[in-house]
Amino acid sequence: MLPDTGRYPELAERAAALDAADPLAGLRDRFLLPTGLVYLDGNSLGALPAAVPPAIEDVVRQQWGNSLIRSWNSHAWWQAPLRVGDAIGRLIGAAPGQTVAGDSTSIQIFNALAAAARLRRGRPVLAVDPGHFPTDRYIAASFARAHGLEVREVTPAALPAFLAGEGGRVAVAAYPPVDYRTGELHDMAALTAAAHAAGALVLWEPVPRRRGAADRARRAAGGPRRGLRLQVPERRAGRARLSLRGPAAPGRLRPGADRVDGARPAVRSHGGV
Ligand SMILES: Cc1ncc(COP(=O)(O)O)c(C=O)c1O
Repeated sequence: MLPDTGRYPELAERAAALDAADPLAGLRDRFLLPTGLVYLDGNSLGALPAAVPPAIEDVVRQQWGNSLIRSWNSHAWWQAPLRVGDAIGRLIGAAPGQTVAGDSTSIQIFNALAAAARLRRGRPVLAVDPGHFPTDRYIAASFARAHGLEVREVTPAALPAFLAGEGGRVAVAAYPPVDYRTGELHDMAALTAAAHAAGALVLWEPVPRRRGAADRARRAAGGPRRGLRLQVPERRAGRARLSLRGPAAPGRLRPGADRVDGARPAVRSHGGV
């Protein structure tokens, strides 16, 4: 809730002056939040953008309700993963065709691990941050169980030494750029370089905007079942393949990216994005 500024009028005045001078202040109106609430959580669930309820209403009532099955073509539902992915790609510094808006974060993490492990066949180890967001650890464990891989829990601080010793056995390292509990920012560039030097790939989840090419998956704060934006660097785009996939979006795929394909779109959440 808003702090009681009654006892500190000079702070309230200063805050009001800063707000008045803030070029971003008007953006507050683009979000719906309960009156009086200061909401800073962008991790599990961001604030509701005001444009989302009418967009979802349109998807449900007009596109689903009126156009029915024709919507796959007439409202371009087939192309939604790439259309939405490219729109997000512009925000996060990705080239067209590199970002796919898919199903839930969990499914896309699984997809990204599968794509990475396939590119590093014969390497039996999946290195995971023990402090990773629980979903990411559960998915890594499920993926490893299903594919006969071994999960090694290694903290980001210990990762370079681990990779120097056993990196030749590591297929992929799954790490968050930020410890979600403490806010500690890990050195993405150094850890990516250490993994690459060992011939391993890195799955960063989530990824801050514009951090250069890593072997990464992206998640944006949206609504429930908002979908992960899966991004692979250009040099791997032609080879990375998703396990859980749907039909390609004709004409939307960049040459060289023709095997990075969204799963059947989660139409309502894509409409919301
Ligand atoms: C960092 C991170 N990873 C994974 C998830 C799981 O997302 P989903 O429920 O869409 O699979 C969340 C959800 O908040 C998250 O914050």
